[in-house]
Amino acid sequence: MSYGSHRVLDGLSIAVPAGSITALLGGNGAGKSTTLSLLLGFVRPNDGRVTVCGVDPGVEPDHARGRTAYLPENVALYDHLTAVENASYLLALSGNRPSRAAILDAFAAAGLQERAWDARLSGFSKGMRQKVAIAVAWLREVPVLLLDEPTSGLDPQATADFNALLHAIRVRNTAVLMVTHDLLSAVDVADRIGFLERGRIVEEVAATGTERFDIRALRARFGERARAA
Ligand SMILES: Nc1ncnc2c1ncn2[C@@H]1O[C@H](COP(=O)(O)OP(=O)(O)OP(=O)(O)O)[C@@H](O)[C@H]1O
Ligand SMILES: [Mg+2]
Repeated sequence: MSYGSHRVLDGLSIAVPAGSITALLGGNGAGKSTTLSLLLGFVRPNDGRVTVCGVDPGVEPDHARGRTAYLPENVALYDHLTAVENASYLLALSGNRPSRAAILDAFAAAGLQERAWDARLSGFSKGMRQKVAIAVAWLREVPVLLLDEPTSGLDPQATADFNALLHAIRVRNTAVLMVTHDLLSAVDVADRIGFLERGRIVEEVAATGTERFDIRALRARFGERARAA
């Protein structure tokens, strides 16, 4: 995948199975967001193949996006609407009409405080916005979830809340691909971590069975790469 003559992804091979969370780490400009753009059909690869639920998102973007929830780095929500109104409106755009109770359940699961549910978003912190966004993604009940640096700028508690909901989404057999710089968050939440460098995955580790990652071993193994992430 190149932008003009600038080759960004080169020989990248990645598959994200249903019911799993893959974290994609890599430095600035490594091509993480571009990978998500390919999966969303926003850009087309110069060569190679991209499929989402069996279809090429570049050829059938509506089919692919209808099955994909995407949290961009900066979530676009409406400041003049309340949290509930944002969720209702955004979900209506994708053809979902959840009840108020279902929306409140999702907010609670995302860790959004009750006093924020009917408040306008103009006073929300970044973490509160992320919680609204992940609640909306949860309510869409789609098989694919793409996240671009979802925990950047969140405090440890907000990150933990976020990761907990991600786990709940994964249990529903969703394929989750999370792009991040946050090795700790990746270790906490992912089943697999891939390090993107020079346009491809240069290292890949998996959490085996009930064993989580050993952060010290990871740092030692990935050295500068993990520290930079
Ligand atoms: N629309 C575009 N047109 C031209 N070049 C682009 C475009 N989008 C990204 N690039 C370039 O492609 C490379 C990869 O960008 P990308 O946004 O995928 O990186 P990233 O891994 O998400 O980085 P970051 O961690 O900073 O978000 C960068 O060199 C960037 O400048
Ligand atoms: Mg990016």
